[in-house]
Amino acid sequence: MSSACPEGFKLIEEGLAKICIPDPELYRRSDGVFEPAWAPVFYNPAMITNRDITIVALRALGRSISLAVDSMASTGVRSIRMLLECPEVKHVIANDIDEDCVKIIEINAQLNNVSDRMEIHRLDCNELLYKLTRERRRADYVDIDPFGSPAPFLLAAFNAVMRRGVVGVTATDLAPLEGKYPRKLYRRYGIKGTKVLVSKSIAIRNLLAYMAKEAAKIDRVVKPLLAYWYRHYIRVYVEVDSGGLRASEALERCIGTIAYCNYCGYGRIVAEEDEAHIEELLRCPICGRQMAVIRDTWICRINDSEFTYQCFKEAEQCTSITLESKRIVLSVMCSSKVGDPLPIKISAIAKFLRRNMPKISTVIEKLNEIGYNAYRVLGTHDEIVTNAPYEEVLNIVRKI
Ligand SMILES: C[S@@+](CC[C@H](N)C(=O)[O-])C[C@H]1O[C@@H](n2cnc3c(N)ncnc32)[C@H](O)[C@@H]1O
Ligand SMILES: [Zn+2]
Repeated sequence: MSSACPEGFKLIEEGLAKICIPDPELYRRSDGVFEPAWAPVFYNPAMITNRDITIVALRALGRSISLAVDSMASTGVRSIRMLLECPEVKHVIANDIDEDCVKIIEINAQLNNVSDRMEIHRLDCNELLYKLTRERRRADYVDIDPFGSPAPFLLAAFNAVMRRGVVGVTATDLAPLEGKYPRKLYRRYGIKGTKVLVSKSIAIRNLLAYMAKEAAKIDRVVKPLLAYWYRHYIRVYVEVDSGGLRASEALERCIGTIAYCNYCGYGRIVAEEDEAHIEELLRCPICGRQMAVIRDTWICRINDSEFTYQCFKEAEQCTSITLESKRIVLSVMCSSKVGDPLPIKISAIAKFLRRNMPKISTVIEKLNEIGYNAYRVLGTHDEIVTNAPYEEVLNIVRKI
């Protein structure tokens, strides 16, 4: 089968697609681990979940997608999968700045018999998106999947997408987004913040805040549909609409401050109207310490409950995605169901109370017994999301 691929490439299957990828045997580190970044064309098997969930999300939209733009396509795997696995997707533009990528995208398109529905470009992502905007070829869906930060490409994406179209964005620059490098977070995303114990969920909010502000520059407004972090990446899907007034209102309502106590794990969201009392609100009501502060971040919902439920239903039925991806979708739906609160870190509460860490399942059971919903955060051993107030969780941990 590999003879379908050029020398140095190997045929694999992902979803319903057959794809030539750089032969992983040729790009192994001394410890035997495949290093995708060393290959001439980037293919990362650790991102199958990312692509699977694109399929789920586009199916969950439940509307025709006349034009999807895969602006950084590498092997073209996502483009091809969209065409093979989402009946709603009619036409895809697969673009990459790299010559080797474009050559392999052409081969992969032919291999999957989708060449007639796929247009291939070799342009800078922004150049492509502004070209489409200028030609008034508005996209129903734009995918931004760069190495590292998506910040330089978002304004172009918001220009190119049609009214009520969707933009899907990956960020792998987690260290700045989480606030590990506050100066870089400020420089790149305009957010003044620092790293806290639940930093991955803050990173999602920081990215959403940046997206909302970029969209607002051109009188567009973003509505988060689905947002999650998994292993080394963050992924968000937003619906983009038009309206300067609505964009202003969204910024007023949804950009605000998060205060988080790294000592006892208490967190609070400070809306604009509470900013007058900000000094008191930055003191932890549980332990009295000064809380860490993230300013100008996203304080509204990060998921749309109806949409995440549709995604869950699609993921359940979908036979071409991995079990891992189904688990992510389930976890996002659960977080959405309880209103996307900040996660509560049970190990921080236990440490504060000088107790052993209780079993997460016991904490969840006890919360259920008193009428709350609670779910473990996927990818963590000690975080839950719940509609219970922090104080209830504290009481439960105290009693166990
Ligand atoms: C992380 S990879 C994309 C992976 C791909 N979307 C997938 O799911 O397999 C990033 C790709 O962006 C391309 N790239 C980097 N800078 C770009 C730019 N300014 N415009 C267009 N493509 C770019 C790289 O050549 C690389 O193939
Ligand atoms: Zn505290």
